[in-house]
Amino acid sequence: MANRNLSEIRRDFPLLTGNASLAFLDSAASSQKPQPVIDAISHYYETYNSNVHRGLYSLSEKATKAFEDARETCAEFIGAKHSHEVIFTKGTTDGINLLAQTFAGTVVNRGDEIVLTVAEHHSNIVPWQILAEKVGALIKYIPLKSDYHLDIDVAKEVISDRTKVVAFAHVSNVLGVIHPVDILVDLAQKVGAVTVIDGAQGAPHLDINVSELECDFYTVSGHKMLGPTGIGFLYGKEDWLNKLPPYQGGGDMIEEVKLEGSTWAPLPSKFEAGTPNIAGAIGLASAVSYLSDIDRSSMLSHDRTLGLQAIEGLRSLGDVKVFVDTSSKGLKNWTGVVTFAHEQIHPHDLATICAEEGVCMRAGHHCAQPLMSVLEVPATARISPYLYNNSDDIERFLVAMERAKKLFIS
Ligand code: ALA
Repeated sequence: MANRNLSEIRRDFPLLTGNASLAFLDSAASSQKPQPVIDAISHYYETYNSNVHRGLYSLSEKATKAFEDARETCAEFIGAKHSHEVIFTKGTTDGINLLAQTFAGTVVNRGDEIVLTVAEHHSNIVPWQILAEKVGALIKYIPLKSDYHLDIDVAKEVISDRTKVVAFAHVSNVLGVIHPVDILVDLAQKVGAVTVIDGAQGAPHLDINVSELECDFYTVSGHKMLGPTGIGFLYGKEDWLNKLPPYQGGGDMIEEVKLEGSTWAPLPSKFEAGTPNIAGAIGLASAVSYLSDIDRSSMLSHDRTLGLQAIEGLRSLGDVKVFVDTSSKGLKNWTGVVTFAHEQIHPHDLATICAEEGVCMRAGHHCAQPLMSVLEVPATARISPYLYNNSDDIERFLVAMERAKKLFIS
């Protein structure tokens, strides 16, 4: 159902309507939340707060139903065949750590290879480094070309019979580049490697169908897609989730516990030890429903238009390097994120001036230090427009940039 007009969207976000002077351009770090998401969470706490899967009383039955309905909503959102293929997690980082830890000795053994890209967020590098060190595996990287797209010719050489896992972001959090995930899945399948997609920046912007994509795993963070913090989910193919050992032990994930040993609950409980983030799951489902009412391609073109407005302004400012491929191929595979560096002004100074002007943007290494080395910069500044932004926000950002230039360079 694609029925929401983007020009009306902003009024659903109380933090934005309550702060008319704010230009929030840091949604890749964490998005704002619409009223229905805030209401869904409050409604749970105010009217049916209780634990799930345990109580025989109506409050708990209602909470259990809402929690499991949330799982269905998330499964539908990404085109999973079964809702038990959706495991609630704390977010993408948690999902990738779950995989990296349960792959040790099952999927990845001594001498095996794990293939990543140089454009990954630390959360899709460090868990694999910990795994590689633990079992004695090797990590190989797919490089970027000078246009910031992955070098698929090199990927074809790097992914080999020794590769057991290929893990990559759907969308780079720094560059906003949409990676060719179908090609990477295909290359991995040809050598029998498991595919893990970091969807933290993909799910907020793109239509996803994991069944068509045939990836083995896909991870999502709620807070970057209008949902609350501390909740996300991991999609895994049923066969894989059944084969992997549990991640954490505790309540709810067992079938039977004896002093001599325990057996595991069926999916999805096997991977959800302890009381889950019930309010978070309910809020996430509300965010997913909200996003499902919006035409994703109109949203992408809205975000790209704002990104292009910013790029044009930055270029006329001068002395700015923008890390975006503005060729027609580049723009088709871009979510509108603008990462840039000024030749003379440090990104932190730019972000500080922006903050003084009520413009929120991110500066630093964006949890992607290897990518900063590839781009040959210690840090960059980044704006990440989303559905509630408008051209006034970009104008305000550009005015702040002008002010920074006057302050630091004349
Ligand atoms: N991964 C988040 C970002 O890119 C925090 O800002």
